[in-house]
Amino acid sequence: MDVEKVFHMNGGHGEQSYAQNSHLQKKASDMVKHITLKSLAEAYISTEPESLGIADLGCSSGKNTLSTIREMVEVIDKTTSNTPPPEYRVYLNDLPTNDFNALFKILPEFYEELNSERHIRCQKQVSSVFIAGCPGTFYGRLFPNKCLHFIYSANSLHWLSRVSAVGSIASHKNTSRT
Ligand SMILES: C[S@@+](CC[C@H](N)C(=O)[O-])C[C@H]1O[C@@H](n2cnc3c(N)ncnc32)[C@H](O)[C@@H]1O
Repeated sequence: MDVEKVFHMNGGHGEQSYAQNSHLQKKASDMVKHITLKSLAEAYISTEPESLGIADLGCSSGKNTLSTIREMVEVIDKTTSNTPPPEYRVYLNDLPTNDFNALFKILPEFYEELNSERHIRCQKQVSSVFIAGCPGTFYGRLFPNKCLHFIYSANSLHWLSRVSAVGSIASHKNTSRT
């Protein structure tokens, strides 16, 4: 079975959707959020790019990924309180079967909320935030050279690796038997 083509979280925003059933995952990433944000700030300070490239590997289709983006933008805006903040390029990666449309549909509302919060906080012209979907497996090449400064992943990297591990154990056993 080609896991990458069939494996996905339940899309949409209904009762059974990942979006409505991912509170535990949010709790788990919140527990290490301070580390994530500190690492992002350090990565930004060490390069100070005009255009900051961030990728979320295994973003799924709920609001968890957007909540993390909001906090990332906030932390960098604060880091640059005396200088213009960078523009933000955020690449949301997941498998092609992920419900990216559900995510894209909530983007206009997200941009509006984010920018009004930023206007109030910064009291100045805020920089642009560009969010794009990037379908594909993170076991392969996803991005062109030199476009990312920070790569983030929450509750995702173990998924297929576990399946792959089971796959290779099974094939190893089969080979041993023959
Ligand atoms: C439990 S969800 C986590 C979603 C989100 N990051 C969060 O914290 O709520 C795991 C996501 O990883 C994705 N995923 C698993 N293996 C992947 C791979 N090889 N490449 C890209 N995404 C993958 C799944 O499709 C799924 O949407």
